[in-house]
Amino acid sequence: TGLITLDEGFVNTGSTRSAITFLDGEKGVLRYRGYPIEQLAAKSDFVETAYLLIYGELPNAEQANLFRSGIRDHTMIHEDMRSFYNGFPRDAHPMAILSSVVGALSTFYQDSMDLNDEKQVEVSIYRLIAKLPTIAAYSYKKSMGQPFIYPNNDLSYCENFLHMMFATPARDYMIDPDFAEALNLLLIVHADHEQNCSTSTVRMVGSSNANLFASISAGIGALWGPLHGGANEACVNMLERIANDGGNVEKYVAMAKDKENGFRLMGFGHRVYKNFDPRATIIRSSCEKLLNKLNLDDPLFEVAQKLEEVALRDEYFIERKLYPNVDFYSGVIYRALGIPVAMFTVLFAIGRLPGWIAHWREMHANPGTRINRPRQIYTGSTERDFLALEDRS
Ligand code: CMC
Repeated sequence: TGLITLDEGFVNTGSTRSAITFLDGEKGVLRYRGYPIEQLAAKSDFVETAYLLIYGELPNAEQANLFRSGIRDHTMIHEDMRSFYNGFPRDAHPMAILSSVVGALSTFYQDSMDLNDEKQVEVSIYRLIAKLPTIAAYSYKKSMGQPFIYPNNDLSYCENFLHMMFATPARDYMIDPDFAEALNLLLIVHADHEQNCSTSTVRMVGSSNANLFASISAGIGALWGPLHGGANEACVNMLERIANDGGNVEKYVAMAKDKENGFRLMGFGHRVYKNFDPRATIIRSSCEKLLNKLNLDDPLFEVAQKLEEVALRDEYFIERKLYPNVDFYSGVIYRALGIPVAMFTVLFAIGRLPGWIAHWREMHANPGTRINRPRQIYTGSTERDFLALEDRS
């Protein structure tokens, strides 16, 4: 074991070189391909940002048109795939459905297995970006017992998602441009975050030369956990619990400091950000803007603001440099858009998809890539002889 360095949780281990996202956790800086997240959030749209992450440059007009139309061509899912949904229980978690159906894309598009066929890889990228919102919206329709709504390719990416979620054959859904704008911003700020748990998973699985669909399906599984993307769902559940408990945030801050009970403030803390999370700042102000515009008075937003204020004054949180992260305010926006809590992490997955793809693609383009295979320090028994059943206690 002499040569093995142990770094549990990979706190200080670089797994790769990457030119996609720059993050300075001390200064609260996040840039995609050199562009500050604040500028992209204010000026770009999600599909353009996806292009930037995957191909390294903002697209010119022709590249943007080709990319957008390539995605539009693939928004429907194979009719046979719809029957999968009949097999899932109605109360199935949409993240479980998302990961299963994305994994199943390899069964429908078997050419995607050939990683040396660049054209196939490109088509797989279009398919994933185009179909993920459709697969996601169908999981919601399934839970509601409503018929699936086909995508509408005349709509923008975010408008189309809202249409598939909320239209019914009996009633059209009037898309509020403020809703589409808020969703667009949330997807952009989630689009990449260098070597986080789900992205590292995508790279890990992809390093064995597994195809793109299989790798992304694994990433969705990793994102689901409450310490990662699942924190947005867990955070809103927590805010609701506090609101129903009279809004007594001090009690919950005290609980979060007590290590015995296992309770943590969801949406608080980050492995890398030790000053502030720039995504949380952007989302908080967008949240405030949206609620004001809609004239909505969400008690959870008040609880969240109060919780942030009390925690940030507290020695425990100051010492450990714990700040609100991307998941702290995003749920309040999703609620304002009418999106149910179980779908929050699904939206995170739609947002993070371009980042996963960009990393998978970067890894395969790097001739130095080897299969990811960490080592361990063995702590089990030393050698011993097999015991016959009758000799065992
Ligand atoms: N509430 C209370 N205490 C906390 C929290 C929290 N949310 N987060 C960290 N701590 C404490 C932790 O107990 C530890 O204390 P001590 O040094 O006394 O043992 C110290 O702060 C360091 O925490 P850690 O768990 O060693 O830090 P980590 O880098 O391993 O974990 C984290 C980072 C994000 C998993 C963690 O902060 C956490 O569990 N936060 C709540 C879940 C959450 O919001 N996750 C979303 C992360 S951002 C989006 C994403 O990645 O998907």
